[in-house]
Amino acid sequence: MKKLRFGLFENAQTNDSGTSTWRHPDSERHNFDRLDYWVKIARICEDAKLDFLFLADAWGWADVKGTRPDISTTEGLDLPRLDPAIVGAALIGATERLGIVMTGSTLLEQPYAFARRMQTLDHLSNGRIGWNVVTTGTAETAVAAFGVPMVAHDERYNMADDFMSLVYKLFEGAWERDALERNKQGRYADPAKVHRIAHDGPYFRSHGFGNTAYSPQGTPVLFQAGSSDRGKQFGGKHGECIFLGGGSIEKLAGQVKAIRDEAEANGRDPNSIKLMSAFSCVVAPTEAEARAKHQAILDAQTPDVAVASYAWFTGLDLSSYDPATKMSALHTELSQTQVARFGDKTVGDVLKDWHAHGVRTNPFVGTPEQIADIMCEMADGADLDGFLFTPLIQPTSTLDFVEQVMPVLRARGVAASDYEGESLRERLVGTESPILSPDHPGASHRQLQ
Ligand SMILES: Cc1cc2nc3c(=O)[nH]c(=O)nc-3n(C[C@H](O)[C@H](O)[C@H](O)COP(=O)(O)O)c2cc1C
Repeated sequence: MKKLRFGLFENAQTNDSGTSTWRHPDSERHNFDRLDYWVKIARICEDAKLDFLFLADAWGWADVKGTRPDISTTEGLDLPRLDPAIVGAALIGATERLGIVMTGSTLLEQPYAFARRMQTLDHLSNGRIGWNVVTTGTAETAVAAFGVPMVAHDERYNMADDFMSLVYKLFEGAWERDALERNKQGRYADPAKVHRIAHDGPYFRSHGFGNTAYSPQGTPVLFQAGSSDRGKQFGGKHGECIFLGGGSIEKLAGQVKAIRDEAEANGRDPNSIKLMSAFSCVVAPTEAEARAKHQAILDAQTPDVAVASYAWFTGLDLSSYDPATKMSALHTELSQTQVARFGDKTVGDVLKDWHAHGVRTNPFVGTPEQIADIMCEMADGADLDGFLFTPLIQPTSTLDFVEQVMPVLRARGVAASDYEGESLRERLVGTESPILSPDHPGASHRQLQ
């Protein structure tokens, strides 16, 4: 079996993924706005040799009947938050090899400034940065805050394509990789290797010089997670590492195949894309202990967040529908995955369980061996390249996973016991060099060396 890659899912806010677990006695998430919380989490990841720490982000908030329900505040459901890029920057100095991946929105970010930020982080981390490219599934409330017009679902991906072709010019084309000479007897950089870029796209324009020189990876490692048809198309074209939302092996296998096919359709090696499934579990030495631990987590959660939480990701107020309504009858211009995943279930079904799992799938519960069996079966059965561990309670769920499950996976030879490769791209994507492989569309913007 291939060696799997592992990342940790985190979110710079009190709760995450639309559930409310912060009241659990072991949860330290209410300290998300303190640096020592993040340094602790990053060190747990690096000590366990996880490939990266992923910092999710969602600009929007829950809107039900035109307002943000009080429960969102009393439970810290969607706000307040911290800026993942700044949290990530703060962790560069506290770590040496850990990849740091953060979400950035192609709907709301200004591409020229955003490119400089990513390049800066990549320079300072010496090539450990990844960017989860999102079109902002919580767009409706976020666009009002930014004072920009709402954009429909598929058009947000068209906009993202234009955003990518502009930032590729800045990442790959503006400064050649060896433009800097830093020669005090000679010159700082070679003018022949600094190029004016010109971009007049359907959504974005830019004329001028890149603000930052070529960074160790050039383009940060590109992550993506939209699994609607348009989302898969976008991921197959640009993504190097795709997050899947979890679910049955059959469903995952279908998504993996579809995305690899999209990559091939874009002239890329289908195996150059790494598919990682979100994965959560509750583990303990015995199954009974694990079940009891899971029950304690469920008991700590507040069911009343369900309506607000679902509205946050979909813009749909489920309390306004007849509970017998089929989910397949609903439509959203926000996160389409969060409707499609329920197939023909009813609104009543979703409302019953949403508070316990939110945008995640239900956690697996069992002993370390049982959890390792499930992960190996999923990876084998769905042709996955790894897992994004999504903890229910921080930091204890992560500690349980790295202390109990990772040793079993290592003993089976499916998890690395040390860091390989200098840059995140070499380690995670398996490229020979830290920069985009030649068959990736971004590489076409590189000046021929
Ligand atoms: C593991 C995982 C992590 C995600 N992280 C983010 C995130 O940080 N920010 C965000 O706006 N969406 C995030 N998403 C949601 C997707 O980016 C996307 O918006 C969603 O799947 C809807 O896409 P679709 O409408 O194309 O299906 C994540 C999804 C998954 C499965």
